[in-house]
Amino acid sequence: MASTNTGAVRKKALDVLRSGRFIMGKEVEFFEQEVAHYLGARYAISCANGTDALVLALHAAGIGAGDEVLTTGYTFFATAEAIMQVGATPVLVDIDSETFNMDPLELERSITSRCKAVLVVHLFGLPAALSEIQAVCDRHGLILLEDCAQTFGASYQSRKIGNFGLLGAFSFFPSKNLGGFGDGGLVITSDLKAAETVRMLCNHGSARQYYHECSGYNSRLDEIQAGMLRVKLNHLDEFNAQRKQLAQWYRELLKDTEVIFPDDREEHIYHQFTVVLPSGRDMIKKRLASKGIATAIYYPLPLNKQRALADHTSIVELPVCEQLAEHCLSLPIYPNMTREQVQLVADELIRAV
Ligand SMILES: Cc1ncc(COP(=O)(O)O)c(C=O)c1O
Repeated sequence: MASTNTGAVRKKALDVLRSGRFIMGKEVEFFEQEVAHYLGARYAISCANGTDALVLALHAAGIGAGDEVLTTGYTFFATAEAIMQVGATPVLVDIDSETFNMDPLELERSITSRCKAVLVVHLFGLPAALSEIQAVCDRHGLILLEDCAQTFGASYQSRKIGNFGLLGAFSFFPSKNLGGFGDGGLVITSDLKAAETVRMLCNHGSARQYYHECSGYNSRLDEIQAGMLRVKLNHLDEFNAQRKQLAQWYRELLKDTEVIFPDDREEHIYHQFTVVLPSGRDMIKKRLASKGIATAIYYPLPLNKQRALADHTSIVELPVCEQLAEHCLSLPIYPNMTREQVQLVADELIRAV
């Protein structure tokens, strides 16, 4: 973050510490208003983390025991975990090799009679094929929900991600595009009933202090996180624009190589810049590490291969997920990374490949 912003974040943190109000105060209230305005959503309810945001969204959509929820086989485990936490069963769908996102044709093929919803994930900063996915949901009477943990601020057909489903869930984990200074999450919706349900559930099933309608969760964003996120939200478009510029530089530098990189898509906000390597991924990763370049493998094991899901879903083959899991590598990308740093990573990658 630019140094001026760092100062503003520090000042905000100190202001909250001095205020002595740490939970359910003005910072959270203002953050929810500002974030709803930024995302173009009618209601925004903050919570403790992105996993809780998914759980709350699933509950508010009426998903529970006996239901099946279609989701991608290629995502962070929390997506499927949230489905299991509400008592439902994840049904895993293969992805499109160019986007890492759910393949709409595979989605339609995977529907069972128990499927009640689709939990679409917008992976690595790229919105999924929402028009096609929404059309599948409409044809089959499925509720659409969005896992936007990796796409805060991205738009699809000029609307912010998170507004396409009945509810959208976000994470403020520090590495996210809008990253906090600890954990944090958010649910957005334009449905009043869903919003009321989420708000009640995240505060022990209570809409009025000490009166509880149902058993819920203690899942709240702290004042200090909300305050610091308010400062960062003001700079988010600038951060996302920087990520897009870095991606453009990577593309130019890698264009005559065997490395497959993400297409230039207007809507991509590059939470990750994930390339697909022809072979030797682990050796290349090690070599880059030896030059001080940290890369990451998101994700080495698709969900259909995770032990935690073995007893909770019918295990299917997901050839595209499995292929990409073996060959992908995420290169460094973050606001304030310089052109020289991108050049250095690209040069070393080209040498290693
Ligand atoms: C796609 C996806 N869904 C859900 C989550 C869960 O968010 P959190 O870590 O804030 O619980 C993450 C975070 O890593 C994620 O990447």
